[in-house]
Amino acid sequence: MNVPLLDLVAQYGAIKDEVLPAMMRVVETQQFIMGPAVPQLEAEIARLSHATHGVGCASGTDALLLPLKALDLRPGDEVITTPFTFFATAGAIHNAGGTAVFVDIEPDTFNIDPAAVERAITPRTRAIMPVHLYGQMAAMERLLQIAQPRRIPIIEDACQAIGARRTIDGEWRAAGELGWVTAYSFFPSKNLGAWGDGGMIVTSDDAAAERLRRLRLHGGAKQYHHDEVGTNSRLDTLQAAVLLAKLPHLAAWSAQRREHAAYYTRAFQDVPQVTPPAVDAANEHIFHQYTIRAERRDALQAHLKQEGIGHAVYYPIPLHRQPCFAHLGYQDGRLPQAERAARAVISLPIYPELTRTQLDRVVSGIRGFYR
Ligand SMILES: Cc1ncc(COP(=O)(O)O)c(C=O)c1O
Repeated sequence: MNVPLLDLVAQYGAIKDEVLPAMMRVVETQQFIMGPAVPQLEAEIARLSHATHGVGCASGTDALLLPLKALDLRPGDEVITTPFTFFATAGAIHNAGGTAVFVDIEPDTFNIDPAAVERAITPRTRAIMPVHLYGQMAAMERLLQIAQPRRIPIIEDACQAIGARRTIDGEWRAAGELGWVTAYSFFPSKNLGAWGDGGMIVTSDDAAAERLRRLRLHGGAKQYHHDEVGTNSRLDTLQAAVLLAKLPHLAAWSAQRREHAAYYTRAFQDVPQVTPPAVDAANEHIFHQYTIRAERRDALQAHLKQEGIGHAVYYPIPLHRQPCFAHLGYQDGRLPQAERAARAVISLPIYPELTRTQLDRVVSGIRGFYR
């Protein structure tokens, strides 16, 4: 039995009777651009994030790029981020005219190390960009302690972490609640995935929301009046309708992912070559990915491929070692935790619709390799 890494068709079968009519309502009204589903979804995602405003845009990449543009970066301005993330995080910094400053990660959660962030701050630091990797929040309270006294804005890359929460001083705080602005991606594989590209920015800063709404529409609040140069980065109404129909399922889907994760973690307890993902005690993880550290990772990967068991390495080359950032001068060994993680991680199927039989197949495939 093959187990795919992701099975969007299984989810489609379960929800098509809710999603297709919602899409058809958009088709029947022909309101494809900024139709009513867009502001409705913006309000819902802002509420989920304990934030005031949602600003839909074309992708998670743009949800990072537009706030960085709103910082009006000048050459040499620095944005501190993690090298152990999807490329878009650092690509957006570059494309907004800034310089990415990469700092190391915590080895257990794979998230940015706040102490390393503090050491990297200079007079040119214009923002800090943590990524809530794989679906668990970075140590926001420690990042805020560093950023707030220095008035450095935090841009949360929550593209993998919609609905994730963290207890801070005894209270649940949501992804998207504590940063200056937060970026979400609705890429189809995400916990809340569109049927195409889509993204959203949330913020509780009124002025920032107004500026971001302008920037996504060619820089003008009024049609054909341009206060500044923006771009076309709207969220498609059809995608907003799909997402609104899917949103009521999000919490249950993420809970199902947590159950699968707990099942794997129990099953790997007596496999010393496998280190299951660590969940910070303060966090409620949404398990966008279930990512283990594995001994002889590359050989395990070949074995799983042969066995028909879906897997992926997120991410094999940390961003400070990518050829496009060679000019930044990071040598091999400079960020050892990120480099070590890139050599050891492998992600396993974790989508909500996985059956017990499929989970067992993944477990036996891995146990079989180390036997
Ligand atoms: C951490 C992270 N940042 C940014 C992005 C970019 O999102 P998108 O693919 O919607 O542009 C993604 C997702 O692909 C991501 O996982």
